[in-house]
Amino acid sequence: MFATDLTKNKFQSNDFPADLFAAIKELKKELNAVILAHYYQDSDIQDIADYIGDSLGLSQKAAATNADVIVFAGVHFMAETAKILNPDKLVLLPDLEAGCSLADSCPPKEFAAFKADRPDHIVISYINCSAEIKAMSDIICTSSNAVKIVQQIPQETPIIFAPDKNLGRYVMEQTGRDLVLWEGACIVHETFSEKKIIELKIDHPEAEIIAHPECEQVVLRHADYIGSTTALLKYSQQSSSREFIVATEPGIIHQMQKQTPNKQFIPAPSTNNCACNECPYMRLNTLEKLYLAMKNRTPEITISEQIQKAALKPIQKMLELS
Ligand code: 13P
Ligand code: SF4
Repeated sequence: MFATDLTKNKFQSNDFPADLFAAIKELKKELNAVILAHYYQDSDIQDIADYIGDSLGLSQKAAATNADVIVFAGVHFMAETAKILNPDKLVLLPDLEAGCSLADSCPPKEFAAFKADRPDHIVISYINCSAEIKAMSDIICTSSNAVKIVQQIPQETPIIFAPDKNLGRYVMEQTGRDLVLWEGACIVHETFSEKKIIELKIDHPEAEIIAHPECEQVVLRHADYIGSTTALLKYSQQSSSREFIVATEPGIIHQMQKQTPNKQFIPAPSTNNCACNECPYMRLNTLEKLYLAMKNRTPEITISEQIQKAALKPIQKMLELS
């Protein structure tokens, strides 16, 4: 599909206006654009966005917007979802290489064969997948509504759940349903070290461990609270705890810290001493690339009409069931 070069482009400072924030705001008016950003984006992108949210919130905003142009500060499958919902709008992604390891772990050809082997199953796919996988699905879900959606499927209906095995396993535990799982995973959420999280907890006994359901079971079993990025943010605001160990991409900590500056948020450590808990795809987007995308009205998300139409149905189903 698209090869991922995980190096950020380097630009000359004289390629850009002195006040990028003001220039982006000006372009937003000119284009009648809306900027939608995921919590895993760099802080400056979060600060200029019209709306920041989790995958479900972003899809709902994309479905409801009156803007002519959607500037999607997130990864490819998110911008693609916005395009599926708005085939006649211009949808821009600051860096087209901003993919997703989880989406890549489910190639359409292999998945078609997997599905064909189980013709009596319905397919519920996590939104972190390509448009082709969405087109083969009956219902899309996100981390915030996966449990609720599976609970609405009659007990006797067998379900394939793709592509995230960790979210799938979590949904199985929560619903008591036996799902057939596609063995995909996210490189970021599988990087957390159980041992280092336990060591951190010993150093910070009052801290609550909050985790995204894309994490492995060995991490989730230590969590005081599990939820989507929006759910984790809300929980951190409402909880009486002053300290949190956060097992998801640390971009979310910018919002947590903004909402409750008097609390302490500690990013959960990776197995290696690296910044592997930062999503290398999300972080390909920069304020500079966002400005250039708006100025040049490219890179644009495109999608064939056939796939768009087929992928729209399971997304609409998700929006109905959420
Ligand atoms: P949510 O946006 O549903 O919390 O999922 C996080 C994620 O990994 C997005 O890629
Ligand atoms: Fe994909 Fe994981 Fe990055 Fe989310 S955090 S975009 S699932 S690679």
